[in-house]
Amino acid sequence: MGVDIIVSAGVLRDYLARIYQAAGAPPATARVVADSLTAANLRGVDSHGAQLMVFYVERILTGDIDPRAEGRVVSESGCTMVYDGQNGIGQRISEICCEHAARMARERGAAVVSARESNHFGAAAYWAHKIAAAGQIGIVCCNASTIVPPWQGREARLGTNPISMAAPGPWLLDMATSTVAMNRIHKAHMEGLRSIPRGWALDAGGVETTDTEAAIQGMPMPLGGYKGSGLGMMVEILCSVLSGGATREGVFGIHVRGRKSRASQVFIAIDVARFLPLAEFTSRLEHLVAYVKSSQPAPGYSEVLVAGDPEWRMEAERLRDGIPLGRGTWNKLAETARKVGVTPPEIAAG
Ligand SMILES: NC(=O)c1ccc[n+]([C@@H]2O[C@H](COP(=O)([O-])OP(=O)(O)OC[C@H]3O[C@@H](n4cnc5c(N)ncnc54)[C@H](O)[C@@H]3O)[C@@H](O)[C@H]2O)c1
Repeated sequence: MGVDIIVSAGVLRDYLARIYQAAGAPPATARVVADSLTAANLRGVDSHGAQLMVFYVERILTGDIDPRAEGRVVSESGCTMVYDGQNGIGQRISEICCEHAARMARERGAAVVSARESNHFGAAAYWAHKIAAAGQIGIVCCNASTIVPPWQGREARLGTNPISMAAPGPWLLDMATSTVAMNRIHKAHMEGLRSIPRGWALDAGGVETTDTEAAIQGMPMPLGGYKGSGLGMMVEILCSVLSGGATREGVFGIHVRGRKSRASQVFIAIDVARFLPLAEFTSRLEHLVAYVKSSQPAPGYSEVLVAGDPEWRMEAERLRDGIPLGRGTWNKLAETARKVGVTPPEIAAG
């Protein structure tokens, strides 16, 4: 991937916040959105980083999202909550839902907050990690626009429906239930890459393709065949079915104009201290991770990793050296910035 710009996390975060605020988001909301996108870039999850701002701004400018909506609690009963996002910014609604989940888990041992009428919330890890930072196990899922065919199907019926789980310790899973998130294909397209790896996408006719253009017109593949379809359904049940939110046909992604997204999300928090002391849990998790990683590497690999390792390493590197962005992404971002009256920062070419 062509890297032309190196930007520090601080400069990028500030730039993104200024753009989103100029587009109409309240300052605190603009900051949390900017932080979530920068966090994704820092972790190397560039598909869910700065490039998303281009589409987020368009959705405010077209009136598809209400930047000031804060949502409302529909019901709170026992350890459950239904939250109506009222078409507010996904990161703001998720921030509120995470706070409710962590509070309820602290008070009651566990919590399930199911949100409807929300919007794109970026990388799911950002939210699961927030819950884990409170000493809890966080499980966060989201439904996404209908672009993934079910296994053995050639028409899209599911979303890329990500699952993230974070725990207080060295393990953090965050994955789409398609082979890769669609935004990774969009990113390859934005950078002008002609081909993508095998197994990522099908063309519009349901035939596997490595051609980026055909993939953009086509569909991401379910992760690992029918098992990915099963996980996608699991997310859908916990999100839209449980929250009473929009059913699959009514959910739209950030690339669609003239429609509300109507995404649903679930935020599950489990208070570890109700089971065993937090330090003991973390030490047991560390033992498990060390045991898994003690496996001899297979031919062609130098080590075994667990979920979270690649992103933590990347984060340390990018905090030290800066975040590399492709020229295509940087230029699109600058175009968006100027559209809302923000001057892009001066950055030396990488
Ligand atoms: N908001 C939305 O609508 C939406 C939809 C889909 C995906 N997403 C986001 O897209 C992002 C990317 O998802 P993806 O599925 O393309 O990511 P991915 O294919 O890179 O998989 C990521 C997971 O695999 C782990 N991993 C990677 N290499 C590993 C290795 N060698 N050994 C062990 N574990 C390893 C990572 O730590 C991570 O937990 C995620 O942040 C996800 O939340 C968001």
